[in-house]
Amino acid sequence: MEKSSFLAPGISLFLLLLLFNVSASVAAPTAESVYTPFLQCLRNYTSEQVSNIVFAQTNSSFSSVLQAYIRNARFNTTSTPKPLLVVTPTREPHVQGAVICAKNINIQLKIRSGGHDYEGISYISDQPFIILDMFHFRNITVDVRNEVAVVQAGATLGEVYYRIWEKSKVLGFPAGVCPTVGVGGHLSGGGYGNMLRKHGLSVDHVVDAKIVDVKGWIFDKEGMGEDLFWAIRGGGGASYGVILSYTVKLVAVPEVVTVFRVMKSLDQNENVTELVLQWQQVAPHTDDRLFMRLLLQPVSSKVVKGQRTIRATVMALFLGGAGEVVTLLEKEFPLLGLSKDNCTEMSWIDSMLWWGNFDNTTKPDALLERDLNSASFLKRKSDYVQKPISKDGLEEIWEKMVELGKTGFVFNPYGGKMSEVASDATPFPHRLGNLFKIQYSVNWDEPGVDVENNFTSQARELYSYMTPFVSNSPRSAFLNYRDLDIGTNSFGKNSYEEGRVYGVKYFNDNFERLVKIKTAVDPENFFRNEQSIPIHPGHDSTGASNSGAAKLLHFSLCWKLTVKVGWLLFLKFIT
Ligand SMILES: Cc1cc2nc3c(=O)[nH]c(=O)nc-3n(C[C@H](O)[C@H](O)[C@H](O)COP(=O)(O)OP(=O)(O)OC[C@H]3O[C@@H](n4cnc5c(N)ncnc54)[C@H](O)[C@@H]3O)c2cc1C
Ligand SMILES: *[C@@H]1O[C@H](CO)[C@@H](O)[C@H](O)[C@H]1NC(C)=O
Ligand SMILES: *[C@@H]1O[C@H](CO)[C@@H](O)[C@H](O)[C@H]1NC(C)=O
Ligand SMILES: *[C@@H]1O[C@H](CO)[C@@H](O)[C@H](O)[C@H]1NC(C)=O
Ligand SMILES: *[C@@H]1O[C@H](CO)[C@@H](O)[C@H](O)[C@H]1NC(C)=O
Ligand SMILES: *[C@@H]1O[C@H](CO)[C@@H](O)[C@H](O)[C@H]1NC(C)=O
Ligand SMILES: *[C@@H]1O[C@H](CO)[C@@H](O)[C@H](O)[C@H]1NC(C)=O
Ligand SMILES: *[C@@H]1O[C@H](CO)[C@@H](O)[C@H](O)[C@H]1NC(C)=O
Ligand SMILES: *[C@@H]1O[C@H](CO)[C@@H](O)[C@H](O)[C@H]1NC(C)=O
Repeated sequence: MEKSSFLAPGISLFLLLLLFNVSASVAAPTAESVYTPFLQCLRNYTSEQVSNIVFAQTNSSFSSVLQAYIRNARFNTTSTPKPLLVVTPTREPHVQGAVICAKNINIQLKIRSGGHDYEGISYISDQPFIILDMFHFRNITVDVRNEVAVVQAGATLGEVYYRIWEKSKVLGFPAGVCPTVGVGGHLSGGGYGNMLRKHGLSVDHVVDAKIVDVKGWIFDKEGMGEDLFWAIRGGGGASYGVILSYTVKLVAVPEVVTVFRVMKSLDQNENVTELVLQWQQVAPHTDDRLFMRLLLQPVSSKVVKGQRTIRATVMALFLGGAGEVVTLLEKEFPLLGLSKDNCTEMSWIDSMLWWGNFDNTTKPDALLERDLNSASFLKRKSDYVQKPISKDGLEEIWEKMVELGKTGFVFNPYGGKMSEVASDATPFPHRLGNLFKIQYSVNWDEPGVDVENNFTSQARELYSYMTPFVSNSPRSAFLNYRDLDIGTNSFGKNSYEEGRVYGVKYFNDNFERLVKIKTAVDPENFFRNEQSIPIHPGHDSTGASNSGAAKLLHFSLCWKLTVKVGWLLFLKFIT
């Protein structure tokens, strides 16, 4: 009794402190409680006005700012979790401040560039969060003489293609075929398009980058070091920091390219199965200037009313003239029956419009369009095929697709340059040995949970059906085709084990190196999301890194910063 009363004041003070600390860190931040401290903190990092870049939930523009870069209607409903704030930086110090201040008030930061993430993880979360929306960072500087461009993260691919075309008709860049996709997510996740067999991935052409790290420092390639520079070329930027820009090497494109689209339908006694068998033999091995995408869709039969059938569409880009590709395919792919009438010759920039499904009278400035009026509800999944699927296999697959009714496939052939780049040259591992990648694709237009479950579960069923035909151990997947079905990381722990589940699917043997780099540059796991790279399991999560690699890297970062700052001061001093 005496003892406890003697100790009481100390204990209660201790408890009080403890309670205070606990309640301060546990009380869930709300839209009201976050706005003022965040703004006050942000003011400390820039001399300019900041109140005009932060949108609170009560702001009349909040919804339109939030919705402007939602590209999947599934995540545009009233029940979709909303951010407490949307921060729209216009200058670098805003980004640095946003990182530091989100960390100070202990709130999750989601980074959005073009908003095309298939699972919406750049703008939703199941815990309180802020969106750092990079759409103002859209400057593109094209240097034709050196054949490089500096591209800010919030620029769209369409803008990149347009700005290159403005300056040169014989330069281009290998990246995705949808012009509204953002550079920030696309390049940090790998990035591929219709020049993949000739030029590889977008990340195979990244020569420099600018990133804001967890301490709010800005580094270029030299400052961030080889490891981090490696990680942000395919490992996903959002695990490592905020990408401000990439510097990319441009590639030569011919003045005239050729496109074609040929369709065959199973019910019209056209040999769809034979066509696909031959496609598997030709598409991954042919001239690397030729990219022949194969779409397979269950559609309504035109022959038997009320029946479903399979339609195959070959969509192609050839980096050369029509005569040449027709001759080539008469020999290699006779079942396609390609004639010159099926081909259209055009400039490279017009081919980007053609692939973007624009009308053939559309002018290139359509590539600058950002305001899409709507987007479908959609679900995507991915797989890699390493040995050709047999005739029997294909026929079983057609049956399953017709039974399910709506989910289709996009087969994207690999080979060419993709087989020449080492699988550990970038975090993207799916190189030599992969014949093609499958994208599972289902879109629908009616809202509602039942409809959504219907379509997402049919995509999952088809994925499960495909197990014997695709890669295994691991069953590989493409990071940019974000799919939360393959595993997610629950928040608040150093869940290396959870991270490994999806990590080896996206990155195969490159996963461990990504973990090592993550542990070194962001030991407290501030930059996290549903599928981010986890911290190494041996790491002490209090933040004091016990990894030698981490210490070394921090040392070299600090040292480089000191040298840089010192040099700047010196320059200031002498001028
Ligand atoms: C219609 C459509 C067509 C597509 N076509 C292709 C294609 O042809 N080829 C292909 O490879 N992919 C394609 N994709 C997939 C696309 O590449 C990925 O969804 C890509 O991540 C989108 O980038 P974003 O900036 O638009 O997306 P966001 O949703 O903004 O971001 C995606 C991810 O990257 C992170 N991120 C975004 N910006 C930054 C940044 N500045 N710093 C750090 N992390 C950041 C986000 O936090 C998120 O985790 C397509 C997607 C759609 C919806
Ligand atoms: C802002 O800076 C002032 C002084 O420079 C400091 O006292 C204050 O704590 C800082 N506020 C935040 C929220 O960081
Ligand atoms: C909404 O937020 C923006 C950005 O911070 C600001 O400029 C604007 O004044 C706000 N509008 C209203 C009505 O609060
Ligand atoms: C989101 O919903 C708004 C209306 O609430 C609509 O104007 C907008 O087009 C929708 N965007 C998408 C991508 O569904
Ligand atoms: C884009 O470039 C313009 C002109 O050089 C500059 O004023 C602006 O600050 C740049 N924007 C960003 C986000 O860097
Ligand atoms: C391809 O051209 C031939 C004639 O040369 C024509 O019969 C056929 O319909 C064309 N196919 C497509 C898909 O346009
Ligand atoms: C389908 O293939 C068979 C032999 O493989 C051939 O005899 C037949 O003519 C083909 N049909 C069509 C429509 O091409
Ligand atoms: C556009 O396509 C139509 C046929 O669909 C064709 O008649 C027309 O010549 C094409 N125009 C251009 C500019 O290529
Ligand atoms: C589910 O999908 C099937 C086939 O696509 C369809 O017949 C059924 O009506 C759908 N149900 C709902 C609730 O959409």
